[in-house]
Amino acid sequence: MTQQFISDRAVGLKAPAPAGKSRGVWPGNPVVALWRTTIGKKAVMAVTGVILVGFVIAHMAGNLKIFLGEKAFNEYALFLRTVGEPLVPYSVLLWIARVVLLASALLHIWAAVELTRINWAARPRSYAVKRSLATTAAALTMRYSGVLLAVFIVYHLLHLTLGAVGFSSGAFSHESVYHNVVTGLSGWFVSIFYILAMGGLCLHLDHGIWSMLQTLDLNTNRISRRLRLLSRVVAFLVFLGFIAVPIAVLAGWLGPKE
Ligand code: HEM
Repeated sequence: MTQQFISDRAVGLKAPAPAGKSRGVWPGNPVVALWRTTIGKKAVMAVTGVILVGFVIAHMAGNLKIFLGEKAFNEYALFLRTVGEPLVPYSVLLWIARVVLLASALLHIWAAVELTRINWAARPRSYAVKRSLATTAAALTMRYSGVLLAVFIVYHLLHLTLGAVGFSSGAFSHESVYHNVVTGLSGWFVSIFYILAMGGLCLHLDHGIWSMLQTLDLNTNRISRRLRLLSRVVAFLVFLGFIAVPIAVLAGWLGPKE
């Protein structure tokens, strides 16, 4: 627990600032000062984690609308662009959400990289130390599943948002998101990549939600086991909800006939 409060300087990651001079663009800024501590980086991971988990659950639930048919699904995609009108212009709320999401994802990754470096810098090399195998395995899984997710998201945006990969020329439609999902996931390789990536997401959420609840101090001894179960159930439901779409496409349950 005490390790959470060790600052980067304490583990020798960065050279201390010369006396009388403070480093950084905003000397004395409390947000920057907090970011420089391990607990600050963990807080950034937890808060951005809440935003990302919220998005993932909403996106999974939205995707399930595809089972209501082409019209309903495309109307939902249009709603995401027109929501807030006429108070706010077309697509503005969607763009705000995109900026918040992108910033959250970048901060989440940045904090994860920094925390990994702090962990490595603090790791004694000269003698063997008894480490919790469970903690090490969970942390390793988080790194691998995190990298898999980052690769997936880049591919996914190029694929179903921009139509830049995975579609033959002219096959991507700017009118029908339903058509793009059915066409884009009809190949085995792409669908299996999506399903594997959702496996990575499930592992990431299983440990991530649990860890986030601990950082946010919502986890007490009394409800600890229940929160562990909750993280696992949410991760698994998100997995099932997401993979339902590529499986339905591969099985031929969704098609252009509707
Ligand atoms: C089987 C799984 C998934 C399917 C079928 C799917 C489907 C889609 C579709 C059809 C779009 C385009 C929506 C539109 O243009 O209106 C989209 C956008 C997007 N998806 Fe997914 N998605 C999946 C998983 C994920 C996951 C796991 C994440 C993140 C962890 C994710 C992140 C995004 C993002 C960031 C966008 C762009 C949203 C925007 O800028 O409008 N997707 N997805």
